[in-house]
Amino acid sequence: MAKKGRVFSGARPTGRQHLGNYLGAIKNYVAMQNDYECVYCIVDVHALTTVETTQELKQNTFEMALDWLAAGIRPEESILFVQSHVPEVMELHTYLSMVTQFGKLTDLPTFKEKVRQQPENINYGLVGYPVLMTADIVLYKTDVVPVGIDQAPHIEFAREIVRSFNYRYKTKVLIEPQVKHTEVLKVVGLDGKDKMGKSLNNHIELASTPEETVKRVKEMVTDPARLRRTDPGNPDICNVFTMHKLFSPQEEVDMVNTECRKAGIGCVDCKLRFANNLNKHLEPFRAKRAELASNPNNIQDILNDGAKRARAIAQQTMVEVREAMQLP
Ligand code: TRP
Repeated sequence: MAKKGRVFSGARPTGRQHLGNYLGAIKNYVAMQNDYECVYCIVDVHALTTVETTQELKQNTFEMALDWLAAGIRPEESILFVQSHVPEVMELHTYLSMVTQFGKLTDLPTFKEKVRQQPENINYGLVGYPVLMTADIVLYKTDVVPVGIDQAPHIEFAREIVRSFNYRYKTKVLIEPQVKHTEVLKVVGLDGKDKMGKSLNNHIELASTPEETVKRVKEMVTDPARLRRTDPGNPDICNVFTMHKLFSPQEEVDMVNTECRKAGIGCVDCKLRFANNLNKHLEPFRAKRAELASNPNNIQDILNDGAKRARAIAQQTMVEVREAMQLP
């Protein structure tokens, strides 16, 4: 089947993935394989801008690859690889940095946010983060980049860099990527207010056991106005209900919706029902993950093979880039 073009996306190696990662990104990565030629990258070099030790990098990369594969990334069809395995990206990053205005980088909201978060470590790599990201994207002649809303300015920025490069060197070798928004909804964490994330420890890991899942779901914050079992609740503002809508059968969603409002069902019961449905939903994922995890060498082979295929594309692009730049 003819594909519509090439997709590239990257994510930092954050280890075991959670429901927020799944609903916000992975699910979409999996679906896009049907229509596009997909290149998915674990950006370990980007991770170095914020991590102080590299101790966990390997393990986190491995766990993340496991989760992606178990969720349905098909490595025979798509390219799954680790950023640092294709060093051409560093070279392209350097060339692109010469057509990028420093002031624009330091003006980006994402950079300012990092400065607030880690004032003691405002490294050079952090400033160049979007340039490296642009190199990731254009190295593979990417047509479409699926990203969450927070990353959208980076793609716009990548388009600008591409235009500057092509204009300066009077070439068309680099392609301006299109952005495709993936976040259909903000996945809220167990606290019922912040975005689900590992750093806030308000997440549910896809790979956790059914028992751990039940335990986590029990911690979820529900309608704060519902103090007693006999108080009616408001599903419209309850994160457990939001989750029901994503993972429970329609009849059960309807039942919870009506019964909660008249205190016919309590929060504990409601949570257990959600946890059971979530566990059921994740059963095939967990089985596949366990199978993959039993053969770690296989994961390494998949990543090596991905790097080899990615590198073949990257090297070709770099030949064209150097030629366009008329490098001696
Ligand atoms: N910046 C992205 C993030 O922090 C990760 C990333 C790196 C990326 N390179 C990319 C995303 C290229 C899309 C395309 O989540």
